Amino acid sequence: MKIFLADTEATLRLGITLGESLTPGSVILLEGDLGAGKTTLVQGIGKGLGITELLSVPLLH
Ligand SMILES: Nc1ncnc2c1ncn2[C@@H]1O[C@H](COP(=O)(O)OP(=O)(O)OP(=O)(O)O)[C@@H](O)[C@H]1O
Ligand SMILES: [Mg+2]
Repeated sequence: MKIFLADTEATLRLGITLGESLTPGSVILLEGDLGAGKTTLVQGIGKGLGITELLSVPLLH
């Protein structure tokens, strides 16, 4: 599935929608180039989950 996200706000909104629909134990893997929008998406997911602190994404190698 491909979803076109026109701007940062759209990425955040998708994240919020995802976060609101997650159930306990859900795992989401993100893969994307530098600056692809991973952290933005995760910040939206956190918001959708009701997390109010700032979220960052650790690098996994
Ligand atoms: N759909 C979008 N369209 C245009 N710009 C976007 C979009 N989503 C996010 N951005 C912007 O792109 C930039 C990079 O986003 P972000 O930091 O989330 O990427 P990242 O994948 O986490 O990067 P990195 O790999 O460096 O950690 C930010 O300035 C963000 O606001
Ligand atoms: Mg990032």
